[in-house]
Amino acid sequence: MATIAEVARLAGVSPTTVSHALSGRRAVSEETRRRVQEVMDELGYSPRRAAQNLATGGTRLLGLIVPDISNSFFAELAKGVEEAAIDAGYNMVLCNSAFNHDRELLYLETIRSRAVDGVVYAAGSPTTHREMADSLGSIPVVLVDEEVLGSNTCSFVSDNAEGGRLAAEHLIGLGHTDAIILSMAGLASSDDRAQGFSDAWVSHDLPQPVVIGGDFTYDGGYAALTDAVGPLHDIDFSAVFATNDLMALGAMKRLMEIGLHVPQDVSVVGFDDINIAGMTNPGLTTVRQDVWQLGFRAAEALIASIDTSSPPPAERHVQRVELIVRGTTSLCMSDAD
Ligand code: RIB
Repeated sequence: MATIAEVARLAGVSPTTVSHALSGRRAVSEETRRRVQEVMDELGYSPRRAAQNLATGGTRLLGLIVPDISNSFFAELAKGVEEAAIDAGYNMVLCNSAFNHDRELLYLETIRSRAVDGVVYAAGSPTTHREMADSLGSIPVVLVDEEVLGSNTCSFVSDNAEGGRLAAEHLIGLGHTDAIILSMAGLASSDDRAQGFSDAWVSHDLPQPVVIGGDFTYDGGYAALTDAVGPLHDIDFSAVFATNDLMALGAMKRLMEIGLHVPQDVSVVGFDDINIAGMTNPGLTTVRQDVWQLGFRAAEALIASIDTSSPPPAERHVQRVELIVRGTTSLCMSDAD
């Protein structure tokens, strides 16, 4: 939405005169009021929002904190938040916490200084509710993608445990019995995916999958498999479930380097369905999250809270996930199975 300064410039008056014309609290000539109105109509400027702005001292800015802007998952999330913001006459500022706890708290505190009207927060470290509340004060917050321990703050997340279950059932249906999970332990989303996968796996009387730590990056997936699988290690497995796509792709690189073919020797399933998942050869089988929608809905809830000056309702919104079968999974051919 246009700013009050733009309306003032085009109407040839000062921003103060525009605000007087809007609020009606001070006398403004009929001619000036008409000119201001014409410019507002041309620019699609909303007097209601402008008046609210002036009354509350709001900035019409939303903050979005994400843990990794290099992961296109978060680019898509940002697009959803931005779309909702623009639709409602807000703008968005993006903060990248780099999965770093201290940086995340620093951004939360910066936001408290009223640089923005509210924040959509995708946590990338095990931030506690107390830390979040102390850092943000009364600034409204909506959680997206990741929940914060011990908090009943309004949140929009995917059904992560169900996604893990879908991945496991798919692999079991293809005859796999031994699996490795690559997971970023300590983050609820990843823990829930790993748990959902393991629970489904053992419910078929299969051996407990081996869990290896990763960090939601391509290099992390590569390194996790390098450390755990090689000539000196003795893990029987024919399937890998990575709790995000980047780790799945990094793992695939390492498997191919050590002479294991995907999917002939090892099947791989990721999580997210980032845009590149369908571009690799073979395409990555993965669990799809509608991340744009997560971002859009979280921002809508935040904006409703700001516009009505009431805290976002303490509700947990869980979105469906979907298994997307591509070329990295196939029938198990391994002797061990
Ligand atoms: O790829 C990044 C991951 O971090 C996604 O799976 C998202 O859900 C978040 O938890």
